[in-house]
Amino acid sequence: SEELIEKSKKLAAFAAVNENVSKSDRIIGVGSGSTVVYVAERLGQLENKEKFICIPTSFQSKQLILDNGLRLGNVEEFDEIDVAFDGADEIDTNLNLIKGGGAALYQEKLVASLSRKFVVVADFRKQSPERLGHFWRKGVPIEVVPNSYVKVLKDLFKLGANSATLRDAGKAKAGPVVTDNGNFVIDADFGEIPLNKVKELDEKLIRLVGVVETGFFVDYAEKAYIGNEDGSITSLS
Ligand code: A5P
Repeated sequence: SEELIEKSKKLAAFAAVNENVSKSDRIIGVGSGSTVVYVAERLGQLENKEKFICIPTSFQSKQLILDNGLRLGNVEEFDEIDVAFDGADEIDTNLNLIKGGGAALYQEKLVASLSRKFVVVADFRKQSPERLGHFWRKGVPIEVVPNSYVKVLKDLFKLGANSATLRDAGKAKAGPVVTDNGNFVIDADFGEIPLNKVKELDEKLIRLVGVVETGFFVDYAEKAYIGNEDGSITSLS
């Protein structure tokens, strides 16, 4: 049920913050999505919250930081982020991720790449039985420069995508989703992806002219906290 899902998100987020923010941490990355809402809530409860600076990964994330009374910083100000927390759309057994359900994948990857420790928080639906390519069956989100989308869609089919579609804004607007960086998002389904093939596919995608970033996060996550339906937490590392 919806309630169970919300509970498990909160459980995972609170445990992740409790176990991964140390007294010496100064710069904390805050991801995007509905699970990170609870990360920001928990960070806002910490007694030493005046002492650290939070780096956002999207407009939504910036609002979460401000709404929870946390100090906001810019990603350009720091060489390194001590620890970053973020959600995921899918997690395989090697801790490869698919992200970008909320179209924030580029800034999320920027923050993740600067982080000494990258911690994933998610509910039980996000853990793949083994390999990526299960959840929602939407495939991997890919951020592209607007005028490249027709070309990139063709490229993706050539690389073996079962489907590839420009993400539509839906009821909010007639036309495509526009990211915080002014780009478009393509969702490309490559079916189930063997654990050891994610990197290879990602490298092919990133080489396509027009692609800004992909939603594959390979070798980023150090830990993942998954909230289970029965109130327990699975932690993967
Ligand atoms: C945002 O672009 C995504 O990468 C999110 O991190 C991801 O979709 C997880 O979101 P939820 O926590 O809402 O599932």
